[in-house]
Amino acid sequence: MSAGNGVREKLKKLEREALAELQAARGEAQVRSVSTKYIGRKGLLTHWLKEVGKLPAKERPILGQMANQLKATLEREAERAIEEERKRQKEEWLRLEQIDYSLPGRRPLRGSKHLITQVTEEIVSIFEGLGFEVSEGPEVELDYYNFEALNFPPDHPARDMQDTFYFSPNVVLRTHTSPVQVRTMERRNPPLRVIAPGRVYRHDSDPTHSPMFHQVEGFIVDQQITFADLKGTLTYFVHQFFGPEVQMRFRPSFFPFTEPSAEVDIQCVICRGEGCPVCKKSGWLEILGSGMIDPEVFRFVGYDPELYTGFAFGLGVERIAMLRVGLSDIRIFFENNLQFLKQF
Ligand code: DAH
Repeated sequence: MSAGNGVREKLKKLEREALAELQAARGEAQVRSVSTKYIGRKGLLTHWLKEVGKLPAKERPILGQMANQLKATLEREAERAIEEERKRQKEEWLRLEQIDYSLPGRRPLRGSKHLITQVTEEIVSIFEGLGFEVSEGPEVELDYYNFEALNFPPDHPARDMQDTFYFSPNVVLRTHTSPVQVRTMERRNPPLRVIAPGRVYRHDSDPTHSPMFHQVEGFIVDQQITFADLKGTLTYFVHQFFGPEVQMRFRPSFFPFTEPSAEVDIQCVICRGEGCPVCKKSGWLEILGSGMIDPEVFRFVGYDPELYTGFAFGLGVERIAMLRVGLSDIRIFFENNLQFLKQF
């Protein structure tokens, strides 16, 4: 038997085995590994291709052709097996993926504005309609702006009404939005017509007080601003916000940074002035503080108190929101209870 016959037998055997293995291979990875086993760089057939090169010249062409054909066959078969495997997977996928095109989609959850944001925006927009511009200040504030320049001297008892959180003796969480008055006046000259919404903090916590709450500050500074402007502006606001039929009154009060000062009450929205627990039987509800800006404040910011006058006011957003929707516990605003918040 010539060396060629041995090789021929080998090649035939390889062919049978390789085709059987390809047939049995499951999945692309297996097919590829069979293909590597036979026709990879160190594959069995690759080895025999080299052996053919060592055969006597007369046997080489015919066995060489045989080996090359076998290689081509294996390549083609591997290719076909992979194709088939892909087709099978796709069919399997289509079979499993039974799409119900009539099923309603998953709607994205749509959020909405917090009631406090809505009420703040409503208040601000009423004043914007009167030509006020929006300004803001920091929540971590210097004692100077929160108290001193607003004419609360150090250790003055008026500070007790606004017990707060101290970062250091000179830095506090602001207790009201009034410091925005001072900051704005320091930077700019009259005429000013400013509305300043924001968060404020006090060392307070009970059903009607939250340690964090919201205020809207407003003020005007110009020549010849009078108490009549204050009354006219705030009356307009109350009628816009609560309705033209709501009674209101100005009641003398005290704030260190206004002189004279007044608090504004509206007729109780719950009992319409009859007297109930919400208004403590008085028929009135306090909604804001206001007054003519004290000349002392103008001195702090370098305005001439002989030339300029102005008025200011500050209101608590939660309080107004509670009156609007009839709530008695302020804490519900900040509990992140969606059942509650979604109602508005
Ligand atoms: N800042 C005061 C407070 O939080 C409210 C206030 C009263 C603001 C009178 C004013 C004002 O601008 O004129 O209690």
